[in-house]
Amino acid sequence: MPAAPKNNPPLRRLLGPGPSAVNPRVLESLSLPVVGHLDPAFLQIMDQNMAMLREVFQTKNRLALPMSGTGSAGMETCFVNLIEPGDAVLIGVNGFFGTRMVDVAQRCGAQVDTVEAQWGTALDPAQFRAALAKKHYKLVAIVHAETSTGVLQPVEEVSRLVHEHDSLLLVDAVTSLGGAPVRVDEWAIDVCYSCTQKCLSCPPGLSPVTFNERAVELVRKRKTKVQSWYLDLSMIEKYWGSERVYHHTAPISMNYALHEALRVALEEGLEASWQRHREVHGVFVREMRKLELEPAVAESIRAPMINAIRVPENVDDAKVRQRLYDEFNIEIGAGLGPLKGKIWRVGLMGDGARVENVELLAKALRQLI
Ligand SMILES: Cc1ncc(COP(=O)(O)O)c(C=O)c1O
Repeated sequence: MPAAPKNNPPLRRLLGPGPSAVNPRVLESLSLPVVGHLDPAFLQIMDQNMAMLREVFQTKNRLALPMSGTGSAGMETCFVNLIEPGDAVLIGVNGFFGTRMVDVAQRCGAQVDTVEAQWGTALDPAQFRAALAKKHYKLVAIVHAETSTGVLQPVEEVSRLVHEHDSLLLVDAVTSLGGAPVRVDEWAIDVCYSCTQKCLSCPPGLSPVTFNERAVELVRKRKTKVQSWYLDLSMIEKYWGSERVYHHTAPISMNYALHEALRVALEEGLEASWQRHREVHGVFVREMRKLELEPAVAESIRAPMINAIRVPENVDDAKVRQRLYDEFNIEIGAGLGPLKGKIWRVGLMGDGARVENVELLAKALRQLI
């Protein structure tokens, strides 16, 4: 078979649910020379990535590192390390990723109960209160920004309830980290994971996770081995810690990319970035309303970096998205599950959270709907 033609991907404006626009500095860092994964020069990058991740997660946790793999690897890391067969777990489900958490936890042998809300609405802390009053859960898990619906969940309130009942709180900050406050220590989040390809403006490939000492202690006290060799934190900790015991070969170039992405985020400042995401979200809502496109989520629970708008009745959802690709090189996201065909999801994440992007999308949509 002859070799395939050289890859020549189109230059898209990524305004979907992720991956988001990659910052040019991050893209450039991907072509830096590859060194060995135990080269002192790389060990320094690992240490700096851990230190900068602590800053972005707003935590003093010792364990903060990027797992090799995408956001789902972070999700699995948290569940496989914390859950032993038979453990009781409570999961908030009001979208696609809460549903995925249930699947992952069940595969670990957890007895899963759920607190549910309609897709497009937020989880109600009162439901957590009621569930926690009835039964003791080892772990309670919640998605902060539910990417499938554009809803931001009340993590702080749920955290208070979880700790009143002596459970552990696990938060998915895949879409929120960098684009909205995720205050791991202040909100008493015990375990948190994210990804690189949303508000950190990096390609997909790593999944930052952080565990506090209470969670680490639980992992240490396990009676059974973590069922995933690759995601076993007791070994990965020794690779990222001072022992430098080989576990797997860290993806060197992706760690360079994360390094630059974190530098970009911290140079801007977290507060400034959160503010920028809020402002651009405000401009987006105003521009869409001029086109009679309405937000699908109530104002008080909107995640600013992932914007759900209703597809008008007489408009063909898929056709509009295809024409955005073909005629404008713009990607936006479709609805998932019960929201398929009903909403568009517009990601204004990281480097992509710019008024210019909102204006270009509004101009394109004006011609298409
Ligand atoms: C909230 C949330 N959690 C988990 C994931 C899974 O991440 P990945 O697709 O990087 O594996 C995603 C992906 O979009 C997500 O939005």
